[in-house]
Amino acid sequence: MVTAAIFRAAATVMLLVLSFSACQAQLSSTFYGDTCPNALGTIRTSIRSAIARERRMAASLIRLHFHDCFVQGCDASILLDNSPSITSEKFVTQNNNSVRGFEVIDEAKSAVENVCPGVVSCADILAVAARDASEYVGGPSWTVKLGRKDSTTASASLASRDLPRFADGLQRLIDLFESKGLSERDMVALSGSHTIGQAQCVTFRDRIYSNGSDIDAGFASTRRRNCPATFPNGNGNLAPLDLVTPNSFDNNYFRNLLQKKGLLQSDQVLFSGGSTDSIVNDYSRNPSTFRSDFASAMIKMGDIEPLTGSAGIIRRICSRVN
Ligand code: HEM
Repeated sequence: MVTAAIFRAAATVMLLVLSFSACQAQLSSTFYGDTCPNALGTIRTSIRSAIARERRMAASLIRLHFHDCFVQGCDASILLDNSPSITSEKFVTQNNNSVRGFEVIDEAKSAVENVCPGVVSCADILAVAARDASEYVGGPSWTVKLGRKDSTTASASLASRDLPRFADGLQRLIDLFESKGLSERDMVALSGSHTIGQAQCVTFRDRIYSNGSDIDAGFASTRRRNCPATFPNGNGNLAPLDLVTPNSFDNNYFRNLLQKKGLLQSDQVLFSGGSTDSIVNDYSRNPSTFRSDFASAMIKMGDIEPLTGSAGIIRRICSRVN
């Protein structure tokens, strides 16, 4: 009797442990080792050829992974188009006419589908593409954890709520990143991806015409030449986020901030007398610290609320639910 009860209790505990670990399935770098051994090489070839065609694409792909992970986790929800059941995230203010690289992810996905149909998720392709992009333009590399599934839903309202905005103040940015499990140090390191890529006049107009003391006057006047004062004139005109070396991944972004030459307000607030000043100082002096912190923070960002195990699906086409 007693033995049977003990046995039943032990079995129940085992079941609980098993079902808990199924929900908590961990990402792993060898996830496709048996099911698609050529996945990473196939993605890499595709991503490298896209960046060789257009170097800015490296920046766009890193940003795409970020904008995916901050909205209901790294589940490729950002890739879903509007449909009767989906309100796409692509059209919220922070994404509209701004996030790019969708066709590059589609190309990588179809290359992978050719070698192992129905196996590799779009969410994993986004994570691998971001790593390959960083590596290609001289940034750090890291081992990408894999095994994310794709969502069957998107959320425009969460995208609007959770993606940072260029006019956000420091505390708001800190809170947003903290709500995703990322520290101030992670946030500053990740913002260092503004060492590459471009921003549109509409995102920095107010700052360059502010005549404020938190922007270098010469820098503001240079930027005004290609960004007219009146909305919507020249809204889409581009300027490099890092005025010194916009095409290579280095720590000049932080050196610019020390000189009040951050392009976006959300850049300059990281060095404006607040709690993140010391981190910016550190990265401006120690490029290797920035590189290793950036890699760790990207891994952490890639871990935000993934769908694993039986949750989620493998989309055959990234822009729609199967
Ligand atoms: C801290 C809060 C952040 C804000 C407010 C912000 C905002 C922006 C804005 C407004 C742009 C220009 C978009 C346009 O004009 O179309 C941009 C570009 C970019 N952002 Fe951020 N960003 C932030 C953090 C990050 C993070 C964490 C990453 C990556 C991990 C990132 C990666 C990029 C890249 C690479 C670009 C250039 C994209 C391209 O050239 O296509 N940003 N960001």
